[in-house]
Amino acid sequence: MAAAALAPVVARADTGIPALKDVYRNTFRIGMAVDPWVAVAPPARDILIKHASSITACEVMKPDPIGVAADIYSFGDADALVDFAQGNGIAVRGHTLCWHKRELDWFFNGDPSAPGYKAKVRARLETYIVNVVSHFRGKVYAWDVVNEPAADDGADAYRGSRWRQVLGPDYIDIAFHAARSADPHVQLFLNDYGLEKPDKRARFLTILDEKLRRGVPIDGVGHQLHLNIGSTTPAQVEPALAAMEARGLINHITELDISVYGDPAGCWDTPPSGCQPEMQPDTETCRAALKAQAEMYGAFFDLFAAHESVTSVTTWGVADDQTWLDVYPIQRKNYPLLFDALGKPKPAFWAVADRTHRPE
Ligand code: G3I
Repeated sequence: MAAAALAPVVARADTGIPALKDVYRNTFRIGMAVDPWVAVAPPARDILIKHASSITACEVMKPDPIGVAADIYSFGDADALVDFAQGNGIAVRGHTLCWHKRELDWFFNGDPSAPGYKAKVRARLETYIVNVVSHFRGKVYAWDVVNEPAADDGADAYRGSRWRQVLGPDYIDIAFHAARSADPHVQLFLNDYGLEKPDKRARFLTILDEKLRRGVPIDGVGHQLHLNIGSTTPAQVEPALAAMEARGLINHITELDISVYGDPAGCWDTPPSGCQPEMQPDTETCRAALKAQAEMYGAFFDLFAAHESVTSVTTWGVADDQTWLDVYPIQRKNYPLLFDALGKPKPAFWAVADRTHRPE
């Protein structure tokens, strides 16, 4: 019937619980990272429609898979995700245009010692970014233009990626100027992890300050925030937010998740064969971990809410059925998100959605 066909999509999951996007409507966007094939099915679909005001593509907006060859682009999966988001009134964060992973060999084809090689690589990067940003112009509100530029250690502030090796530190300038030229309105971000660690932050700020001095059009900084229970406090992250505010920049929390294992390679099951997936844990250890996780989520959302510079907070995933932490850094089941594997709200959800439900 025509009337039914025109009816808005209604989320089926948990109609009685608050919608995160409404709870934080005047505070920041609530984002979740997902890929199109996950977004269209429960539990992710219903959670996104009800709770999310921002979507990031986990994989499908990276150079691999978009840049099939120098002049061949594959936008199908990314367009499907953008269509899903737009159809449900959800904004899209773009991730990512230039990274040392998921880059493609064709960017670097040629003889590095030949004259003009560097100019060719530069032109390929500029063309790729202009084409991709133009394709999504008006549909994406922010781009992680360069992802993970800072080194984890060593004397050089810059990560020793192929981009840095071929183009020097200017690869960041080139990427941001190309993105700006293709879309004067989209917000442009430098995104990295570990900015809560003073050493890593110092390297990142060296890069950032150099770029700001040179007039590189950086609007904000993305803080990934892949955390483990008991590992990081809001007091350690606060200086990272404040440092960007002091430079007049926006802060986005771009990849938040909190592993239930204090040790990154931890697991509750350690049979001789290694860690095995356990989909619905219900042990004392598990309950204690979920409570600690909820307390961390609550405390971190308090921190974000106290900083007006934070305009978007994204979890790296939707529900515990799909998380990169199931396979990284070891294979085991993890439970790092706000919703369980069936899509039901966890203690962590209540810690951020309703302060009266916070664990005692
Ligand atoms: O799609 C192929 C599939 O066809 C193939 O059979 C399978 C075999 O390995 O691989 C699949 O691709 C994988 C892809 O995820 C899609 O699931 C890649 O191998 C795998 O490397 C890729 O991992 C992603 C990783 O970035 C590298 O791009 C993770 O899902 C994604 O969560 C992770 O996200 C990163 C952020 O972009 C940056 N910050 C860290 C974060 C976590 O590592």
